[in-house]
Amino acid sequence: MIIRPMTIDDYDEVFAIWQITSKRALSKADERDQIARYLQRNAGMSQVAVTDGIIVGTVLAGHDGRRGFIHHMAVLPQYRRRRIGHKLAERAIACIAADGIDKTHIFCYQNNETGQDFWRDFGFEKRDDVYVFSYNNKRGTL
Ligand SMILES: CC(C)(COP(=O)(O)OP(=O)(O)OC[C@H]1O[C@@H](n2cnc3c(N)ncnc32)[C@H](O)[C@@H]1OP(=O)(O)O)[C@@H](O)C(=O)NCCC(=O)NCCS
Repeated sequence: MIIRPMTIDDYDEVFAIWQITSKRALSKADERDQIARYLQRNAGMSQVAVTDGIIVGTVLAGHDGRRGFIHHMAVLPQYRRRRIGHKLAERAIACIAADGIDKTHIFCYQNNETGQDFWRDFGFEKRDDVYVFSYNNKRGTL
C-alpha cells in the first residue's frame, strides 16, 4: 500500500469511494471542477491510499492560511482497521504543518461514532465549546 498525493485524475475513483463512505456529506462543493480548484489551492496536501493499483482510501486536506482542515476521510470497508486512515491523516497533517499551520480541524457528524473513535484514537480532541454555524452565500438551502 502506498500513500500519494491525490490528483484530479483520481476524481472518479475517489468519488466512487465517497458514494459508499460519505454520501450524506457530499454537496456541490464535491463536483469535479470544485475539487480540481481545491486540489490546486492546496497543492499536494490531499492524499490517496493505493493497493494493487486501486484507490482504497482518501482524504482531502488543506488550509486557509491560518488553520488546517480535513474533509471526507474515507477508507473502503474491506480495508478498514489496518491503520490506512491513520497513514492518510498523518501525511495530510504533515503537509499542513509544513506550511507553518499549527492546528487542524475536522467536522464530524454527531452520530458518526466510527469517525469520532477514529479521530480520538488519532489524537484529535473533541470540542464542546464550539458550534458550527454555516451560511449559504447564495442564500439558498444549505
Ligand atoms: C473513519 C475511517 C476513515 C477509519 O479508517 P481506518 O483505516 O479503518 O482507520 P485506522 O485503521 O487507521 O484506525 C483504526 C483505529 O481507529 C479507531 N476506529 C476505527 N474504526 C473504528 C470502529 N468502527 N469502531 C471503533 N473504533 C474505530 C480505533 O481506535 C482503531 O484502532 P484499532 O483498530 O486498533 O481498534 C473509516 O472507518 C471510514 O472510512 N469510515 C466512513 C467514513 C467516515 O466516517 N469518515 C470520517 C468522517 S469524520
